[in-house]
Amino acid sequence: MKLTLKIWRQKNAQDKGGIVDYPIDGIEPDMSFLEMLDVLNEQLINKGDEPVAFDHDCREGICGMCSLFINGEAHGPDRGVTTCQLHMRMFKDGDTIFIEPFRAKAFPVIKDLVVDRSSFERIQHAGGFISVNTSGNTIDANTIPINKHDADKSFDAAACIGCGACVATCKNSSAMLFVSAKVSQYALLPQGKVEAVDRVLNMVHQMDAEGFGNCTNTGACEVECPKGISLENIARMNREYLAASLKG
Ligand code: SF4
Ligand code: FES
Repeated sequence: MKLTLKIWRQKNAQDKGGIVDYPIDGIEPDMSFLEMLDVLNEQLINKGDEPVAFDHDCREGICGMCSLFINGEAHGPDRGVTTCQLHMRMFKDGDTIFIEPFRAKAFPVIKDLVVDRSSFERIQHAGGFISVNTSGNTIDANTIPINKHDADKSFDAAACIGCGACVATCKNSSAMLFVSAKVSQYALLPQGKVEAVDRVLNMVHQMDAEGFGNCTNTGACEVECPKGISLENIARMNREYLAASLKG
């Protein structure tokens, strides 16, 4: 396949940045999108040019590191996959592909296609955990009976990999889908109920402090989420937040 890549290049956080054209040839349909970028970077390095910086780690759809906006869609044109799982067979010979970083005030660009998503880490640190006394006498979680429906819903929410596609897709740059998944995975389980009030209040407070926008129920986040995180998590978080505010 012969393609024209239009890639966002930005030297650092201060640089204005801009789109640069890169013609590329010899791309196989079975290559992953990141392998295609590896080929480009090899060519750039061989010419003595600066390679394109992009985030990646597991390349298996698990870690949430890959984060590209491809032809105007977070993680590209396929559904239910991350950028690292996207294959070049989704494109045609002769295509022009725009590749940009995830854009949101709370995700500042560090370099080229790499953005700083530490705002997500700070939200997690604000309450995305349960406190357990690890004295050696801790009860195994599996000994606590849990309703199958709740266990399944919790597991679905826990599938969120923190990639940030929901934020990049939302016209308001809202992080509600991510935060609601992290709140829900605990809110549904008995172990999570002990700290439920503080958790939802602290995580929502941190989300607002990081500069994410508000949710206006458009639902674009759910469509682009590679892990199928449902909007019902946002409704659950809103109920949890209201109840916690009344208690608090
Ligand atoms: S909710 Fe979906 S899109 Fe948002 S961070 Fe989690 S996995 Fe990514
Ligand atoms: S590199 Fe880990 S999810 Fe894509």
